[in-house]
Amino acid sequence: MLLHRPLSLALLIFFFFFPLARAAYEIVNFGAKPGGTVDASNALRRAWSSACSSATPATVHVPKGTFLLHSVILSGPCKRFVTLWIEGTFVAPSNYALMPSKWITITKVNGLRITGGTLDGQGNALWACKHARRSCPHGTDTLAIGNSKNVEIIGLSSINSKLFHISIYKTENVALRGLKIVAPEASPNTDGIHVQMSRGVTITGSSIKTGDDCISIGPGSTNMWIEGITCGPGHGISIGSLGRSLQEEGVKNITVKTAEFTGTQNGLRIKAWARDSTGFVNGVSFQHAVMKNVENPIVIDQNYCPSSHGCPSQASGIKINQVQFWDIKGTSAKKVAVTLDCSPRNPCRGISLRDIKLTYNGGPAKSFCCHASGTTMGVVDPSGCL
Ligand SMILES: *[C@@H]1O[C@H](CO)[C@@H](O)[C@H](O)[C@H]1NC(C)=O
Repeated sequence: MLLHRPLSLALLIFFFFFPLARAAYEIVNFGAKPGGTVDASNALRRAWSSACSSATPATVHVPKGTFLLHSVILSGPCKRFVTLWIEGTFVAPSNYALMPSKWITITKVNGLRITGGTLDGQGNALWACKHARRSCPHGTDTLAIGNSKNVEIIGLSSINSKLFHISIYKTENVALRGLKIVAPEASPNTDGIHVQMSRGVTITGSSIKTGDDCISIGPGSTNMWIEGITCGPGHGISIGSLGRSLQEEGVKNITVKTAEFTGTQNGLRIKAWARDSTGFVNGVSFQHAVMKNVENPIVIDQNYCPSSHGCPSQASGIKINQVQFWDIKGTSAKKVAVTLDCSPRNPCRGISLRDIKLTYNGGPAKSFCCHASGTTMGVVDPSGCL
């Protein structure tokens, strides 16, 4: 059916001037109070369930101000697209003993956008506990998205997470853009973004400074695109750890493009436990990266066995195939800038090194390879590895 032109114009004007025709739910109208002392979790839960059951696309709005938030689970399925528009800041309780393994959980949604705002995980007390080597809880991920589809997160800041900042699990078609993630270099296990068992995750234009991996890519991650990332401090962009379990899904088709690493422990890394596993890595392209004083700019480590527990003298079962390192330049903080340390039982195949220029202390760096084969193209310095 065709609409009359004046009628469509009227509708256009209506939706332009009356955006509230799209339902909007303010958390303060559900009892949330700024100031950071009154728990807003019930208010957020109620605003979410109104938005989620709305017959028109709906927005949950968090205004400017600081809102204390105990843990919440925001669950779908929702009737229509939901936007969580955060202008203010949510702060977590700093008392880690009271917290479950996830602070803000989003599950079973199809069609969600989160924009703006700050999530403050208040991780200090837990990190202090871990540094003192007391027996401490493992910690709490700041934002966990699972069992969902079609999720966009734009311009969100996450600071001082107790554990991972953002964790994506069993979710399809996710776009993360313009994120800012900040925690101190000495904060344990504060991965920036962790992805697992998920397909079609893109992460672009984001800055990550944290105490563990800037981005970690776990088993079952496929079709990922990562572009325009600055990382550091942190442990770099890492595929792994893989092969912790015997039965494990593989990692396929991952692109990491235009990333800058500053003072990180690693640059681009694949890490697998020295244990048997059905897992694999197939089709990875690391391209156009700049390393600034990075301890291990290029690493494949298939002999990961922290404190020699559960794997001494075993070989990794992870099969690594078709991994490209292309146009990786800059400075290494250690003499060995390229490490390809593969499994004697499953050597790495199809490794491609192309246009590599890494220096150490103003002079040449070195490479170390073991059970790795493939090709080199262009100038590869340090050379002599494949
Ligand atoms: C690989 O992943 C990209 C997204 O990162 C996607 O566009 C492309 O189609 C995928 N390739 C294959 C063969 O699935």
